Amino acid sequence: MGQLDGKTAVVTGASVGIGLAAVRRFAEEGAFVYMMARRAKELDAAADEIGANVAAVAGDVTDLADLDRLYARIVADGRRVDVLFANAGGGGFVPLAEITEEHLDQLVGLNIRGTLFTVQKALPVLNDGASVILASSIASVQGASGLGVYAASKAAVRSFARTWANELSARHIRVNALAPGTTETPAIDAATPEGMSVAEFRQMIAAPIPLGRIADAAEQAAAALFLASDQSSFVTGIELSVDGGTTHV
Ligand SMILES: NC(=O)c1ccc[n+]([C@@H]2O[C@H](COP(=O)([O-])OP(=O)(O)OC[C@H]3O[C@@H](n4cnc5c(N)ncnc54)[C@H](OP(=O)(O)O)[C@@H]3O)[C@@H](O)[C@H]2O)c1
Repeated sequence: MGQLDGKTAVVTGASVGIGLAAVRRFAEEGAFVYMMARRAKELDAAADEIGANVAAVAGDVTDLADLDRLYARIVADGRRVDVLFANAGGGGFVPLAEITEEHLDQLVGLNIRGTLFTVQKALPVLNDGASVILASSIASVQGASGLGVYAASKAAVRSFARTWANELSARHIRVNALAPGTTETPAIDAATPEGMSVAEFRQMIAAPIPLGRIADAAEQAAAALFLASDQSSFVTGIELSVDGGTTHV
């Protein structure tokens, strides 16, 4: 018996990385999972690879019409949502002196605005007792050079989890943030600085992690499953660090 048997889940940012790993795990545990990401070809390929119990809906979480289309599709399919993982997000290294309006607007748009409207637009289709998971980051409690806008945007996401946990408690909807430490995803390859090999970069970022390695996306998916399932039935408003000890040791 799966931990999410009979449940309907939504995962944004679902074509690669942590989102895709969560889709795979949720589907393995018995959920039917709606996947959203912008590039339809990559999303469809990911859905095809998983095979059963998933539906791909290409769209951009910063576009409110796309979010409306996602939830309208779920209603048209005769479903309501039990698990919402607002995972789409991203960032980049830009030191204070080089921050542009575009960089600020892009990250605020994706990480804050996108997360907010992903959840707000879901409210009419969320079942009472649903679990909402927001992708935060350990960056939200650190001061890593160059990550100022990203870290601030993820601190906002963490703050949303607290407020919305309160606001939605009357419907027994739990809201938690998942704060991954450095995790094996395409975003990590993309962040490799010029003049450094991917292997060198990985060694450098793993060195300060108490467990001595970066996370596998499946380990983030396992934590997302915990927050999604009844195993966390008395957990709301938290930020769960899944970071090999980075922020707590
Ligand atoms: N990887 C890490 O080390 C790490 C650490 C801490 C926190 N996180 C957080 O965890 C989440 C997932 O990270 P990841 O590393 O797995 O990401 P990733 O490898 O960069 O993948 C991002 C996913 O989001 C989709 N996406 C990007 N912008 C979107 C938009 N506007 N609308 C809809 N989908 C969008 C991408 O597909 P398209 O480009 O096709 O849209 C892709 O499926 C993010 O919120 C990230 O900030 C990651």
